[in-house]
Amino acid sequence: MGWSPFDEELLRIITDDAIDIAYLSVDYQTIIDKYYRPGTKVRDIILSHSSSVGEFALEISHSNSLGLDDDIVKTGAMLHDIGIILTDAPGIDCRGSAPYLCHGLLGARLLLDEGAPLWVARIAARHTGAGLTAREIKAEGLPLPCIDLLPETLLEKLICYADKFYSKSGNMQRKSIERVRASMERYGSESLARFNHLDRIFRNCPAQ
Ligand SMILES: [Fe+2]
Repeated sequence: MGWSPFDEELLRIITDDAIDIAYLSVDYQTIIDKYYRPGTKVRDIILSHSSSVGEFALEISHSNSLGLDDDIVKTGAMLHDIGIILTDAPGIDCRGSAPYLCHGLLGARLLLDEGAPLWVARIAARHTGAGLTAREIKAEGLPLPCIDLLPETLLEKLICYADKFYSKSGNMQRKSIERVRASMERYGSESLARFNHLDRIFRNCPAQ
């Protein structure tokens, strides 16, 4: 790929809170089909994972009466990981060159290049872990620009939260809340605290 996830325009768009987010619809299947060819393992993985995240996000949305549009929730879930194909993660059949941690920002760049609206690009950019802060990125030397990449809108928080319950390897079944907490804790106490904050927002979710 000829572009970097770190270009200034992308970072400005992703972090500009003054930009009005219009929830335009997206043909997610066309974007998935363009980058994930039929018959490849990575296509099966992303479709399975993203569908699971979408179904769980919809369960949470309904059980909490979040008032979010079902198509928007489903589309956000289906595209949040679109950037994995550009990363170096052979275990899940991703043969790109970027560090896996970059898949959110790479996905955001890809989505904007495909003409997708900002709301879905923001979901991709801000879903990694329970979000990442500039301080963590700097302190841990992560291969990302030192900016806050935290989920802010309710929709961004929902997709980020639901995503934590599904791995892209192993049996790909929903994890228990205890397993999710344990994996968040491995990334540090701040990460766990942010997950627990999301958990409080969505505490009526069926996983508990
Ligand atoms: Fe995901």
